[in-house]
Amino acid sequence: MPRSVSFRVCLSDQMIKNWGIAMTLKDAALSVREKAYAPYSNFKVGAAIRSASGEVYSGCNVENVAYPEGTCAEAGAIAAMVAAGEQSLTEVYVVASSPQPVPPCGGCRQKLAEFGGRDVKVTLATVDGAELETTIGDLLPGAFDASHMEDV
Ligand code: THU
Repeated sequence: MPRSVSFRVCLSDQMIKNWGIAMTLKDAALSVREKAYAPYSNFKVGAAIRSASGEVYSGCNVENVAYPEGTCAEAGAIAAMVAAGEQSLTEVYVVASSPQPVPPCGGCRQKLAEFGGRDVKVTLATVDGAELETTIGDLLPGAFDASHMEDV
């Protein structure tokens, strides 16, 4: 009797990168969101950023029983970029399972502004596919930056 064998291939983001398969920011953000550690809020967030070199870095929120110690998805993606030796981002995508495209928190807006210019495109999204396009400048008007410390 003929038998069929089926198997699944699981590719990590790193394998996809190594094999030169282009991941969109959306794919990267949706994929990393699945790995979020959010047992307290149950609100999983995924963020992906493209750096000046064109590389994609992603991060998810990582909560902690001591609530303020939790970190946001955007912070994780930025940390991955900086740890890889890059310090400039050119595009951002953030996704969560929210009724409206998820807006970054205030702290994350400041963190994004540290590594990206005012005109950098930021796409806020829901897992259902709704998207809202904005920029770092629009998310954080009047941002505090290094120019404010020039007299020191
Ligand atoms: N969260 C993010 O990861 N990014 C944001 O910009 C908004 C909030 C996370 C933090 C926390 O783990 C959960 O969402 C609920 O606030």
